[in-house]
Formats: sequence, structure tokens, C-alpha cells
Amino acid sequence: MSEKNAIHMKRRQFIASSLATAGTALLAGRGLAAESASPQVPGAVPPAEVSSARFPAGFLWGMATAAYQVEGAWNEDGKGESIWDRFSHTVGKVKGGATGDVACDQYHLYPQDVAILKRLNQKSYRFSTSWSRIQPAGAGAANQKGLDHYSRLVDALLEAGIRPFCTLYHWDLPQALEDRGGWPNRDLASYFADYAGILAKALGDRITVWAPFNMPWTFTYLGYGVGSFPPGKADYNLFLKAAHTVNLAQGEAFRSIKAASSKATVGSAYGMAPAYPKTDSDADRAAAARYHAMNNVFFLETAIHGRYPKAFVGEPPYAAMGIKPGDEQIMKVQLDWIGFHYYTRRIVADAGGARPGAQASFGTEIEEDQSTGRDRYTQFRAFMPTEGPLTDAGLEIWPRGIYDLVMQITREYNRPIIEITESGCSYLDTPYAKDGGRVPDLRRTSFFRDELAELARAIHDGANVRAFHAWSLLDNFEWADGYSQRYGLTYVDFRDQRRTVKDSGLWYGRVAAANRLDV
Ligand code: FCB
Repeated sequence: MSEKNAIHMKRRQFIASSLATAGTALLAGRGLAAESASPQVPGAVPPAEVSSARFPAGFLWGMATAAYQVEGAWNEDGKGESIWDRFSHTVGKVKGGATGDVACDQYHLYPQDVAILKRLNQKSYRFSTSWSRIQPAGAGAANQKGLDHYSRLVDALLEAGIRPFCTLYHWDLPQALEDRGGWPNRDLASYFADYAGILAKALGDRITVWAPFNMPWTFTYLGYGVGSFPPGKADYNLFLKAAHTVNLAQGEAFRSIKAASSKATVGSAYGMAPAYPKTDSDADRAAAARYHAMNNVFFLETAIHGRYPKAFVGEPPYAAMGIKPGDEQIMKVQLDWIGFHYYTRRIVADAGGARPGAQASFGTEIEEDQSTGRDRYTQFRAFMPTEGPLTDAGLEIWPRGIYDLVMQITREYNRPIIEITESGCSYLDTPYAKDGGRVPDLRRTSFFRDELAELARAIHDGANVRAFHAWSLLDNFEWADGYSQRYGLTYVDFRDQRRTVKDSGLWYGRVAAANRLDV
């Protein structure tokens, strides 16, 4: 995600702030309660709110992963090359020269991983399928061995009483389709629908929960608008085109999944961040609304209403997006539920004074000091504040953000069924020999405890949230950051693939059994 690529920009604040806040928590040792009650931790949730938090009976506690980040087996059983294979095999693209060639080897070790989920009382596992395992060149006949793998995984999950939640695209486009122009080529919408149909036909008797895309804004913007993700292109118009194809693909995939499986429900796995205006001015409020339209609901509004939200200043660049008459009908589908992730919040200001035609350089969306804002179409400056403690990935912890975001979507979309598809934090804690090899990752437990208390509050206030997926079941390949970040509730020793459930994972397992947080 984009924050990952912006961290170095804030290095100085990061160091200062983490020493001042997250660092004190660490120094406080095991005093978790004291840590959260401490007035020195801005944004922390009061202990009374944590202990009174309750989740509805049947709430779906879950964990998430993505194919390229955990599977490995990058060229086994007929799998084709994906853009992440190509990118990670290109020198200089990924930190430490890391690749997903082996990753967590989940392709072979999935029985162990399902056993961990079961042991931790999980009710939902959100995984993604690798398109190039199913169609090695992105089109044409299905590779039976690829289908068999996911079929075995799904059977193992069902056997363990866990709901399989399938994301069809978590960023690993078959390289052959990139060679045909990638997402800016609108033909990809129907290729994607074919792929979705193949999977729904093969597994739709057992999978009932599907999300076509993970974080569509992120992979289109970072892949085509900025270039920090594959295919590494940096052209705003390509981003606009890619985003439109993905909107068409979402609609077409929805229909082909439904046609192949009568049990299917289709939702989403969008990345979202609540946007708070920098000041109370009308201009900043309008800028925050544009941020919400572009970064949060650009792929949701199109599904629900068949039209683009007001993300742009002035006339929307419809021609650059490649919109054709009739596209509204293709995009419009009645999603059965809305899924989104929450990691951090944004403060948004109007970029004012942007000269028409001035092209901002696209580093990341967090470059608040550019005179033209992020781009000439949306004209806002968005940045992540550093008031709350920062994780090891440099993201601010702001539990209240999930409450605000969930309530906003609840209001704007008429109290839809919501699934939180991801949330989590990176901390680099390792097994501690003096403690029997356990992983005492207290800060991660604290992160989830406070955030879940805020989610419980949103449910109490009327939001219809039925699931929460912690990112991630395992430490894994963290995209351009390689293995330098650890988001897992399970520690993975990448030298021998040994898994150790961290203390946060054990805690989360108790939460899942009790439906409360004071466990
Ligand atoms: C999200 C991605 C996921 C992982 C987490 C940390 O943006 O969906 O793959 O990288 O961030």
C-alpha cells in the first residue's frame, strides 16, 4: 500500500515519535493495561471501553493472506509468471532482493496453516487465488493442477469449520496480460470475468463469499500512476484507464460468478482511510470529500450507483478514462456486502492554487509539501498524521479511525452488511529464548485490542458489521518491503518455515472464542 512507500519521507518524525510513544510502551514491559490507560499515548482507548466491548453471537473472526505473499511455488504445477514474479526477479525493485518464490511455502504447508486457524478458533479465512496458477497466460483453458490446489485448501478449511473467503485478485496479474497492455487495456475486463467464472464453476459449490479485487485504487495507482509497484509505470492517464477497466471488470466478474454459482455472494476488499479535513474551511472539507471519493469509494460508488463519485475538481476526465456509452450498466451491480480494510487515517487539505495543467510529480499521496497537491485532477494534499504511536512500518495507530470509517459507510450506503477484510500492524518481535521461544508481541495485542473496542462501539451504534479479518495469519512477503516487515499473528522463520503463534495470536484466539476483548 502507498503508506509503505512513503515511510522514508517521514523518517525524522518517525524516529522522534516512536521513541516518545510506542517506545515507552515497549519500555513499560508487560504493563499492557497501564500502556493503554497512559495519557501519554494519544488515541489509546480507555480500559473501561475495552472491558465492556461485546461482539454479536456468530461474529466471524478471521485472518487474511494473499497468494503471492504466502504461497511460494512460483513456477510449480504449471503456474505461469505473474507481474510480481517479474518485478521481484528484477534487481533493485524489492528491499533486500527478496522474492515470493518460496515465501511461507503455503502451497505445500497449507494443512499446518489451517490447523493454526482452527486452533485459534477462527471462523473465516480470507485468501486469494493466483490467476496465473489457474490460467498461466491469463486466458484460455484452466490449469487443473491449480484448481486442485485451491479445492484441497477449501476442503481443509470447511473440514475445520472455517468459512473460505476468496479474493480473486490480490495484485498478481499474469505477466502475459501485462504484455498486452495490462489494466489500461479494457479487454482485461472480460479476461478477468472468464477467470472468475472458471473459479466459481470449480469451487462455487463450496465457496459462498467472493471479492473480485483487493485494494483496486492501490494497485492501479501505484502500478500505473506512480510506478512503485509492478508494472512500474508512472503516467496518471494510465492510472485513470486502469481504474476504469477494473470497474468494468468488477461488474463483469460479479455477473460471471453469479452465473456459475447460485450460492455465491459477491462483495469487495477495498482499502479505505477515514479522511479528516485539515481545517474547518469549506475548501478543506471539500478536499476531504474528494479524497474519500477517489481513495475509498471510487470502485464502490460505481458498483452501487453505476456512476463515478465526485473525485475531481471541475469536469471529470472521462475521455482520459476511456469511458464509453453503456459502461454505467456494466459497472452497476448490487454487491451483497461491502468489505474494506482499515490501517490508518488521513488528514486532507485543499491544494488550492494548483495551476491548470501543472503536473505534480507522483511520489506518494503523502507528499503534503507539493504546491500542486497530489495531482491536477483531485487537487488535494493528503497525509498521515503522527499524533498516535507508529508501528514498525511507520503507520500511525488511530483506533478511532475504524469507528469513524465504519459509521461513514453505514450512513452513506444505508446500513450495508460490512466485512472488515484487513487490519493489522507490523512489529518485528521475534521468539524469545528466555521465555520458552514465545513471541511476546505486546504492542500488536494492544493495537488489536484498542481497534476492536472501537469496532464494537460502531456495532453498538448501529453498524451491521459481521466479520473482522486480522492481517495476517503469517509473517509474509510484504511487497516492495520484502521480508523487512512482519504483520503476522504467527511468526515465520523463513530459514526453515517454522511457525510460532505469537502472543497476540493466542490472545486473538481467545477473543474469537469469547466474543469479548478482556480475555
Ligand atoms: C494491505 C495489503 C496486504 C498487506 C497489508 C499490510 O495494503 O492488502 O497485502 O500488504 O497491506
